[in-house]
Amino acid sequence: MGKAAVSTRFWTGIFVGIIGVVVLAAAVSLTVIYSGAYNIAATEGHYSLVRWAFSTNFHNAVESGAQDVEAPDSFSQSAIAAGAAQYKNMCQHCHTGPGVERADWAAGMLPKPPQLTEAAADWKAEQIFWIVKNGVRMTGMPAFGPTHEDEFVWNIVAFVNELPAMTPQQYESLGKQSRTDSHHHKGEEHSEAASSGAAGKAGEFGSATQENRHRAGR
Ligand code: HEC
Repeated sequence: MGKAAVSTRFWTGIFVGIIGVVVLAAAVSLTVIYSGAYNIAATEGHYSLVRWAFSTNFHNAVESGAQDVEAPDSFSQSAIAAGAAQYKNMCQHCHTGPGVERADWAAGMLPKPPQLTEAAADWKAEQIFWIVKNGVRMTGMPAFGPTHEDEFVWNIVAFVNELPAMTPQQYESLGKQSRTDSHHHKGEEHSEAASSGAAGKAGEFGSATQENRHRAGR
């Protein structure tokens, strides 16, 4: 056999090998998908490789997505106060607050919503904005962009930015509800009565117009 013939057989072998591996991988994937063999229960964590892949992709996607976002130079006290009221309405039950636990049901989520009192320190304002506006697919983190104006989202960002340094006392005084209230009335938080109460209180911080704009929708 000549040198050329050996080389041809060598490369054909490599090629057939690669095709074989690809076909096998596809067959295994389809078997897993159709049989439902990959455990989707939220009671058990992902394999560490899957978790690593998700969270690495998540961080990099947020970093690149937020590159087009421009944050205001600074946030006013009234923006922070308005954001506080919204945070307690829409985020606290998943993400906790200084001195306030997440709702029981949120502890059963996978991934478990991180405590923003700590996690917010890892992100820039632009990145928090991107996350809140766009949400995180397949995690339970909602996108608030489709239902809220950018200005509304920025108020929340202004507040979340302050969270890591906030004491439970500051947190409590910035919002509408006492700790016991928020615990006992979780189920009512989304009722008309509860949210118009929040609007009234937010108005004390001079954000009534913003709340109205939010309610009017787009
Ligand atoms: C139904 C529960 C839920 C609600 C409500 C919710 N989130 Fe989330 N959020 C999540 C989950 C789950 C993640 C985790 C995503 C992950 O780890 O991949 C997350 C992630 C985040 C992150 C990234 C944190 C990190 O370091 O991974 C930020 C910032 C965030 N949410 C802000 C907010 C804000 C602000 C609100 C309210 C406007 C909000 N979220 C409402 C469930 C929620």
